[in-house]
Amino acid sequence: MATSYAGLLADKLESDGEKQQARLIRERLARAPMAVASAQGAGHGHLLGQMPTDNDSRLNTVDYSQPTLDNSEVLLPDAIEARLHEFIQCVEHHDALQSAGASVASRILIYGPPGTGKTQTARWIASRLKRPLLTVRCDTLVSSLLGQTSRNLRRVFDYAQQLPCVLFLDEFDALAGARGNERDVGELQRVVIALLQNMDALPDSTVLVASTNHEQLLDPAIDRRFPFHIPLPLPDAALREALWRKLLGRFAPEDLDWSELAALSDGATGATIEHVSQDAKRKAVLAGQANAQKLDLLRRLGLTLALAKGERLTTTEQEIRWLRVWAPKHFTLRALVALYNLSMRQVQNTLNENKGPRDGIKEKAQPGKKKRQPQ
Ligand SMILES: Nc1ncnc2c1ncn2[C@@H]1O[C@H](COP(=O)(O)OP(=O)(O)O)[C@@H](O)[C@H]1O
Ligand SMILES: [Mg+2]
Repeated sequence: MATSYAGLLADKLESDGEKQQARLIRERLARAPMAVASAQGAGHGHLLGQMPTDNDSRLNTVDYSQPTLDNSEVLLPDAIEARLHEFIQCVEHHDALQSAGASVASRILIYGPPGTGKTQTARWIASRLKRPLLTVRCDTLVSSLLGQTSRNLRRVFDYAQQLPCVLFLDEFDALAGARGNERDVGELQRVVIALLQNMDALPDSTVLVASTNHEQLLDPAIDRRFPFHIPLPLPDAALREALWRKLLGRFAPEDLDWSELAALSDGATGATIEHVSQDAKRKAVLAGQANAQKLDLLRRLGLTLALAKGERLTTTEQEIRWLRVWAPKHFTLRALVALYNLSMRQVQNTLNENKGPRDGIKEKAQPGKKKRQPQ
């Protein structure tokens, strides 16, 4: 309670122009024990004072949030989950470990393809530790102004030290790798050096999470500063099934064969499964149905996977041919007739054209016409 009032007082002083007094109070609050500090942060995110911004674009470089366990759930392979729990333990028992001479830096690097749950895992870490999450999209730190990138970096790290938090550097390779891109090599090296210095100066009360799609691009000196490396692979069949079960929830189609769905979604990320589930649920709700329809769900999945493979299915005919090849057991003639509201003959004609899904549909539009001879 006292802390909350102190926070309010600081706000009041600041709005009355007493900036110096307000700053002193906030500094004192920042040194308060963690439980107090996070309680105070819960009510007033802005107690942290002025957010850092990029001088060039004037955009905030940090986003403040307070994930909860409810909205940050993530399903991961057992071994990876175990590593994450170990990390949480190391942070929670940092002091005890330190007095035993066995502490490790509270830094974790998460890497894997887009959509595998890296950002969600960072949210989960913050909620497990009951700390606010400060998210930095590293590409927004990289300024067009020479020297400004290192300044942005310092502001972010200074800001993050004001109270116990999880500092999350998303798209980390934009800062810590990016060798090989067009920018001036000297400037890049300065950024990497600035990053190393800031990381080394960060107190143990700040947990650092970094995520990247391109782990191999990271500078080795930076890579070595992360005692925990967490790879997030594409989900295997068992994990895909768990994701479907969780995300479809009570909207799951009644006649669904889960393991078959898991097999058909080979190559899908958690993000894809979430996206398809949400679409199917939305459709069910809008149609006043208690469950999603199996064929509709499979169709959405098939089309999303086609897109991910770079197939451009722009016509109904292309869709039909793709679905038929992808899951012939489900997309029977009869099913396609019902799904697309076509006659049996139209579906048959479409399939008999026997072309890849990519081929044009012009010929189909004029079925009687002979193919044009090459000139
Ligand atoms: N393994 C997973 N468990 C739960 N949700 C997941 C998983 N992977 C992805 N998602 C969901 O997909 C969406 C995108 O995930 P995100 O964490 O942003 O991926 P990334 O940061 O790796 O690109 C999020 O809404 C997330 O909840
Ligand atoms: Mg992400």
